[in-house]
Amino acid sequence: MADNKAQLVIEGAEAIELPILTGTVGPDVIDVRSLTSTGRFTFDPGFMSTASCESKITYIDGDKGILLHRGYPIEQLAEKSDYLETCYLLLNGELPTTEQKAKFVDTIKNHTIVHEQLKSFLHGFRRDAHPMAVMCGIVGALSAFYHDSLDINNPQHREISAHRLVAKMPTIAAMVYKYSMGQPLMYPRNDLNYSENFLHMMFNTPAEIKPISPVLAKAMDRIFILHADHEQNASTSTVRLAGSTGANPFACIAAGIAALWGPAHGGANEAVLTMLDEIGDVSNVEKFLAKAKDKNDPFKLMGFGHRVYKNFDPRAKVMKQTCDEVLGELGINDPQLDLAMKLEEIALNDPYFAERNLYPNVDFYSGIILKAIGIPTSMFTVIFALARTVGWISHWKEMIASGQKIGRPRQLYTGHPKRDLPR
Ligand code: CMC
Repeated sequence: MADNKAQLVIEGAEAIELPILTGTVGPDVIDVRSLTSTGRFTFDPGFMSTASCESKITYIDGDKGILLHRGYPIEQLAEKSDYLETCYLLLNGELPTTEQKAKFVDTIKNHTIVHEQLKSFLHGFRRDAHPMAVMCGIVGALSAFYHDSLDINNPQHREISAHRLVAKMPTIAAMVYKYSMGQPLMYPRNDLNYSENFLHMMFNTPAEIKPISPVLAKAMDRIFILHADHEQNASTSTVRLAGSTGANPFACIAAGIAALWGPAHGGANEAVLTMLDEIGDVSNVEKFLAKAKDKNDPFKLMGFGHRVYKNFDPRAKVMKQTCDEVLGELGINDPQLDLAMKLEEIALNDPYFAERNLYPNVDFYSGIILKAIGIPTSMFTVIFALARTVGWISHWKEMIASGQKIGRPRQLYTGHPKRDLPR
């Protein structure tokens, strides 16, 4: 893995040899771990040039628009797999056999119900609380309910916690929604598949059980697959950092949910719809594009651009196709969706966006699909969190199994040097 070496020459000091590590695909990395013995550190706020860990789960080539889970391209998974199979793949490294898949689906279904007492916990929140605030609290609270699987050094406990999280997230997400609406909570139905069950818990009531549209269930499943993992993004890195302290998996996932909430990350799908509201009408698009280009204006076009994908987001391609299917199936005539399509067209043809390689990202289209399905805007990031839980927990498991040290970055201190109190 480390055949080549880099030399770091620091003026007035001896040159330092740093090993260059090579992965299976992707750029080599310079191993700077020995630098600490020289009393110096690297400086990389925003981690633009830093690989924080070794991982075998997901590979992204941002320039070529490639996203692989355990080697399999996201486009193939979105077309030929389903969410639970993708979960198995992320968690275990290989696709399941037919028997393994059936057993996994069965296990997940076994864990869909949450502890009854969680309901009373829910009642502590205001009904108008943001669903992500409630989600953060409830998922963190799971560690107070499932004491039997909290030994992070026990691989079986780690596995049960992973299964519990994947199984319970749809139930919790739907509970959060129903609570905000003042509707009775719906229990999961194990005769339905993962995404059908989620839509059932979201939109049915005990008074009226309507069949779930297969097109919408498929679209939901695709949204789950496309958000399942994305290597070392801000929330996954947060989960890893929290997990490196030995914190329990439910607490770590709650930390990931908090990090996902921000509009530069998972909050972007909600921010897209809020922005469309603000733009209001196609006649205002040019004015908002001018704001997005103005360096003195903090406004950014939500749902455009990506830290890693500088050409196109492969998830956005699949999502756009699903978006067309869903809008077609529902025959929706919504001026806000028309506005989104117009904005996409104008921005794609604008030199500012073209020169900076700013394309619609996955959140641009997922926001539109979720709105069309009838999911309220404030729930968008919750759905992202639901889908990403498997990615977070796969990374957490990988990290714990590798025995990684506690994550503890250093800093470039620019505050006062030591001084005495003036008294
Ligand atoms: N609207 C207008 N200008 C933009 C935008 C945007 N959405 N995104 C980037 N730029 C400009 C930026 O101002 C900079 O211009 P210049 O070179 O003249 O200074 C240039 O494009 C390069 O951008 P950057 O800020 O260096 O890019 P970054 O990698 O630091 O930020 C980002 C990536 C996703 C935070 C940013 O593009 C953004 O805020 N986008 C809107 C929010 C969004 O949609 N986020 C969801 C990301 S996908 C979901 C996920 O994986 O979490």
